[in-house]
Amino acid sequence: MSETWESILSSPTPQAWIDRALNSLDILLIDHAHCEKKAASSAISLIHKYPHFNLAKLLSPLAREELLHFEQVLRLIDKHGYQYRNLKSGKYAQTLHDASSNQEPYKLKDSLITCSLIEARSCERFHALLPFLPDSLKKFYSKLHEAESRHCDLYLDIYSNIFDEDWSDRLKQLSIIESNYINQKDSLFRFHSGY
Ligand SMILES: [Fe+2]
Ligand SMILES: [Fe+2]
Repeated sequence: MSETWESILSSPTPQAWIDRALNSLDILLIDHAHCEKKAASSAISLIHKYPHFNLAKLLSPLAREELLHFEQVLRLIDKHGYQYRNLKSGKYAQTLHDASSNQEPYKLKDSLITCSLIEARSCERFHALLPFLPDSLKKFYSKLHEAESRHCDLYLDIYSNIFDEDWSDRLKQLSIIESNYINQKDSLFRFHSGY
């Protein structure tokens, strides 16, 4: 049986993105570090916005895990002789955010689905990169792949626990928007960019 991350994405990462990633390992790692930091921050933001759903029980450990990933990527950046710095953000997360509802309870539903989709894409990209990565990154990315796959499931489990309804129709809509985004040419190469 396929894993959740495989079943919820509408298309795989184009080879052109993988080629670009391998030629831009510094940007890949630096932007990846930002992604881990943003993943922690999104989880904390959900805990803060919805205290009545007791999200802290599941999302606080997730946020800590993302910050550990952040620290691990920072060490790798250092080890490879690259310089951690701020980068202009791509429009990936913003595109998903723009497609989301701003009215509750749909806003929370869309946030949980979006978080799951972003985890799924991270997972899929780690997987797609694995055969091509230098040994110095291979082991680390295969470990992360396992963690982000778990996070992908966790966000959908939280949705089901809170709303007790099927998320698949809405997930499909947002997944198509996600897929359209990564299948376009992108002037800015990022971990979640187009090609
Ligand atoms: Fe992570
Ligand atoms: Fe994650």
